[in-house]
Amino acid sequence: GEYAGLGEVSGKRVLVRSDLNVPLDGTTITDDGRIRASVPTIKALADAGARVVVTAHLGRPKGEPDPAYSLAPVAARLGELLGQEVAFATDTVGSSAKETVAALADGQVAVLENVRFNAGETSKDDAERGAFADELASLADAFVSDGFGVVHRKQASVYDVAQRLPHAMGALVATEIDVLRRLTVDPERPYVVVLGGSKVSDKLGVIDNLLGKADKLLIGGGMVFTFLAAQGHEVGKSLLEEDQLDTCRDYLRRAHDAGVELLLPSDIVIDTEFPSGDRTPAPGVVPSSEIPADALGLDIGPDSAAHYAKALADARTVFWNGPMGVFEVDAFAAGTRAVAQALTTVSAVGGLTVVGGGDSAAAVRTLGFDEEAFGHISTGGGASLEYLEGKELPGITVLLDEGA
Ligand code: 3PG
Repeated sequence: GEYAGLGEVSGKRVLVRSDLNVPLDGTTITDDGRIRASVPTIKALADAGARVVVTAHLGRPKGEPDPAYSLAPVAARLGELLGQEVAFATDTVGSSAKETVAALADGQVAVLENVRFNAGETSKDDAERGAFADELASLADAFVSDGFGVVHRKQASVYDVAQRLPHAMGALVATEIDVLRRLTVDPERPYVVVLGGSKVSDKLGVIDNLLGKADKLLIGGGMVFTFLAAQGHEVGKSLLEEDQLDTCRDYLRRAHDAGVELLLPSDIVIDTEFPSGDRTPAPGVVPSSEIPADALGLDIGPDSAAHYAKALADARTVFWNGPMGVFEVDAFAAGTRAVAQALTTVSAVGGLTVVGGGDSAAAVRTLGFDEEAFGHISTGGGASLEYLEGKELPGITVLLDEGA
């Protein structure tokens, strides 16, 4: 059988870079969204008779084997989803990998152990990364790039290996890029962007870029407090990035000048401590200008949630990245739930809603929303943000280059 961009793949060893970086509780996968998203490409290759070798990372181990970050449970889950046996190599390019790949018959699938157990994978040194990419490439005849969540990383299994093998873009990467393009090229208006998550510093580029493009920017999550502090409010023990205060002031000014509505929560759900294991949360609600010195903000308040839902009601295009609060704990999940709910309403009347990656994608699933109620749930957090920033994504650029 053929695979788009590679031609005949039957009998060939095809290395697939997937993003299988899923949240784990011990060895239990708490959200398998990324594994499910990786299935169509792997299945298409296997059905075409390829010997499929999947490489992926899990977490951020330090360039050496670390059992806490083993992909073994992920390989098992992939097997269940594919409905076929998936072999697992206990190393990435060593003897186990070589034997496992050599033993594959046409249409069979293997997963290699966490690629980040090898220092070469994430090395900043081109030669070191290249040497590791040579080893990876020696395991295969062709490469398919399907790990959208890592295409913003210039890493051996994402970037360098594509220079060493005939390569093609996987179905997931193609879909993701297609949807994100619709957000950047003439989006239908009103175009509303909801940004949450803990740090302003993770979102600088995207805020910068969207101030000229979105009609409304709704802010939630931990980064709220740096904005509130920039407006002169006390934020108690809330997350605060002192070094971003000037930047936030600048964004507030620029949003005003550009006629972009930048919304901050008017009320906040607080507690005296960050939620942890055995402690029962004791949430309270205060106006965002009155956060007590001994409290910290953990979610946007009910008035803000209602206000944000209203601001989203007439949107025709929505991009959402980052939860509004500590949604993993029920007492601090209402803000995130309200935003998710508002997105489903926009989808229901034909608007385009895109949930950007990582935490927000996990949030909509763990809060029990039907994935079908959203236009697109991206598998990439950082990658989708960098795309929207207009940054070059090395894992995409390398596929477009001639060469291999
Ligand atoms: C993600 O979780 O966003 C991707 O898997 C990338 O992981 P990384 O930020 O550790 O490179």
